[in-house]
Amino acid sequence: MTKNPGIAVRIATQRDLDAIAALYALTFDAMQARLAVEQYLRPEGTWALLATVDRDGAAVPAGFVLARTVLEETEIFSVGVAPADQRRGVGASLMAAARQIAQRGGAAVIVLEVGVDNPGARALYGKCGYEMVERRPGYYRKKGGERVAALILRLTLGIQDGRDA
Ligand SMILES: CC(C)(COP(=O)(O)OP(=O)(O)OC[C@H]1O[C@@H](n2cnc3c(N)ncnc32)[C@H](O)[C@@H]1OP(=O)(O)O)[C@@H](O)C(=O)NCCC(=O)NCCS
Repeated sequence: MTKNPGIAVRIATQRDLDAIAALYALTFDAMQARLAVEQYLRPEGTWALLATVDRDGAAVPAGFVLARTVLEETEIFSVGVAPADQRRGVGASLMAAARQIAQRGGAAVIVLEVGVDNPGARALYGKCGYEMVERRPGYYRKKGGERVAALILRLTLGIQDGRDA
């Protein structure tokens, strides 16, 4: 499900939850990552992607997407790539695969939110064609108590995406 050599992306199963939780803990500095991931994936229509990179012939977990498709909208809750594997195309491969899955699930749009203080993620989403539709001031509360605005981004899916993406 990816055009980058050495990177593979697939729909995650129950057996991938530990790997996704470990990646979630790494990328979001989260406590109780397993519980958080399980909670994300509990509602109907949720799905997850796992990206792996090839290391000496072994497929090593490197990144994930957590998302939900309801009717014509897919919401991406979370995207993360292990620090050691960042800037090698894993995030872009995950976003391309998410787009395919969303389209095949009948979605017409993908929405997600990102902090204004996350230039890397904003650059990735911009490169993937996402556009800002809303700014929510003070939406996130950082560990030190500082408030940070969230940007709501949207990608409108074309009819051809399911075939070609
Ligand atoms: C954001 C994140 C998922 C990007 O994953 P990644 O695998 O490094 O992304 P890619 O290598 O596919 O990058 C694709 C493009 O996105 C942009 N990009 C990605 N990370 C960037 C960064 N730190 N700074 C600037 N641009 C960046 C670049 O245009 C990049 O292309 P290039 O490397 O050819 O310049 C990763 O940094 C991450 O997990 N961060 C921590 C968790 C997080 O913030 N998730 C998003 C929450 S909304």
